[in-house]
Amino acid sequence: MKKLIFLAVAAIFSFAQINAQEVNVPQIGIKAPSFSAESTNGKVKFPSDFGDHWKILFSHPKDFTPVCSSEILELAYSQKSFDELDAKLMVVSTDIIEQHRSWKAALEEIHYLGRDPVNIQFPIIADNDLKVSKLYGMIHSAESVSENVRGVYFIDPENTIRAIFFYPNEVGRNVEELKRTLVSLQSHYANRNTVTPANWQPGDDVLVPTLSKSDKETLGSPGSDYYQAAWFMTFLKNK
Ligand code: BEZ
Repeated sequence: MKKLIFLAVAAIFSFAQINAQEVNVPQIGIKAPSFSAESTNGKVKFPSDFGDHWKILFSHPKDFTPVCSSEILELAYSQKSFDELDAKLMVVSTDIIEQHRSWKAALEEIHYLGRDPVNIQFPIIADNDLKVSKLYGMIHSAESVSENVRGVYFIDPENTIRAIFFYPNEVGRNVEELKRTLVSLQSHYANRNTVTPANWQPGDDVLVPTLSKSDKETLGSPGSDYYQAAWFMTFLKNK
């Protein structure tokens, strides 16, 4: 009997391992895979319905769960800042559309942490057939074969995937970090010669991996736009 239980556990473990290898996460630098799906805002075609804006796609494990609910509410409270950053938000969860509608209605009645109730403007996609979740590698089968992990996909105006984060069920996402990442990506998108250092915040100086000969010559002079932390770390001043 003991041997049987051991064999069953080993089989389940190796099944999860094999499945885990099958997760197909799109890569940074590829075009965002297209799909159409039912959502709380009607039928959506992604990414074409969202034009040449930045897009942030979120995956959620389940409706009516506490962490997911807190995340949807915080995103809704931050809607104005995402609008100002020209970013369209969209959520994918594997529950059915009727469930999404009742969850959305329930969320819109909450006075969350002392704030007035908020409207959820972004669409919540019903992905009960896991079509979108599999396309984007949101199902990590070592965790669950039917629910998404918490994923965040940043997509630029040309529909290229620029960043992907994954969080487990137990960690709610930080909206400030999402905005910081978006602004960092936008900074590089606007000036491809610049990248942002660790702990960078919007408004901070940026790094310049390669400096032109004429800019190099200005280094050390009082009027230079550049300064160095080492010969291989050149900053551009934010003026
Ligand atoms: C949550 O969002 O609270 C949650 C989702 C899935 C599993 C556990 C918690």
